[in-house]
Amino acid sequence: MKAIVVKDQAEGTAGMRLLERPEPQAAINDVIVEIHASGFVPTEVEWPSTWRDRAGRDRTPSILGHELAGVVTALGHGTTGLSVGQRVFGISDWHRDGTLAEYVAIESRNLAPLPGDVDFTVGASLPISGLTAWQGLFVHGRLQPGQSVLAHGAAGAVGTMVTQLAREAGAHVIGTGRAADRQKALDFGSHEFVDLDNDTLEDVGAVDLVFDVIGGEIQKRSSSRPGRRSAGDRHRVGRRAACGRACSRFCRRVRSWAIGGDCAAGAGWPAADEHRQCRDSRGCR
Ligand SMILES: NC(=O)c1ccc[n+]([C@@H]2O[C@H](COP(=O)([O-])OP(=O)(O)OC[C@H]3O[C@@H](n4cnc5c(N)ncnc54)[C@H](OP(=O)(O)O)[C@@H]3O)[C@@H](O)[C@H]2O)c1
Repeated sequence: MKAIVVKDQAEGTAGMRLLERPEPQAAINDVIVEIHASGFVPTEVEWPSTWRDRAGRDRTPSILGHELAGVVTALGHGTTGLSVGQRVFGISDWHRDGTLAEYVAIESRNLAPLPGDVDFTVGASLPISGLTAWQGLFVHGRLQPGQSVLAHGAAGAVGTMVTQLAREAGAHVIGTGRAADRQKALDFGSHEFVDLDNDTLEDVGAVDLVFDVIGGEIQKRSSSRPGRRSAGDRHRVGRRAACGRACSRFCRRVRSWAIGGDCAAGAGWPAADEHRQCRDSRGCR
């Protein structure tokens, strides 16, 4: 099959090559998916998992891309829940060959059915930014209907997902970004927009949750504001927000996110322990 492959970390994205590679074989609980659309993040060439397996061994040449949409063509031994011919989308393991290829072998638990009215390109664009937004809002932030969310970077890849999911969940969304981002953020569902270069962030007042993909000064200016709810709730929301920011900082640093779990995905990373301690000391899961 044809696949886009990297062999030399020093070459970065310039080292990406279209090559012939063997078709993947389905292991236990895997499926083989014929890929119709794929998502690729340029920073993948900096991720250690692109170059080494979980035991730290060289795994090059490695196939890039971790988001996909396509059709199941084969099932591995013991695989349940999916069938040959089914349309699926999902996210492939960071340490396995990826989705810039004609076929991928992937654990069935990392796939979901793709509805017939969602095209493959849309499906392949959702998994990483969608899960990032979902985890921040509902796993870490525990957002509830009627709460307010300050969504920084609301016109970006993560921010547009945050905005749509939070609004769908019944939250009041205040998007932020640059002046030129205003209309896009409103079109994606922000109820209000704060231009971070020209408006005063502090004028927003209290919010229940800050979803921060920018950090730095913006983060400092967001974190000092108290929550809107009762004292007990405010305390809990504050702890969750602090943990969410720690998660966000951690994940930006290691550029690694876990599917369906917490974001301390980098087993073996020194920073993972630091992150867990931070999270646990706040009593926040
Ligand atoms: N995309 C993902 O699926 C994903 C997943 C996990 C983690 N992340 C991390 O999340 C962060 C955001 O990623 P993204 O993909 O959403 O990026 P993005 O598409 O570039 O979105 C970020 C948005 O924030 C705006 N922004 C950044 N700094 C700003 C500032 N100082 N003032 C005002 N606006 C500012 C950007 O505007 P400009 O473009 O004009 O700068 C852009 O609209 C990154 O650290 C990334 O590593 C992303």
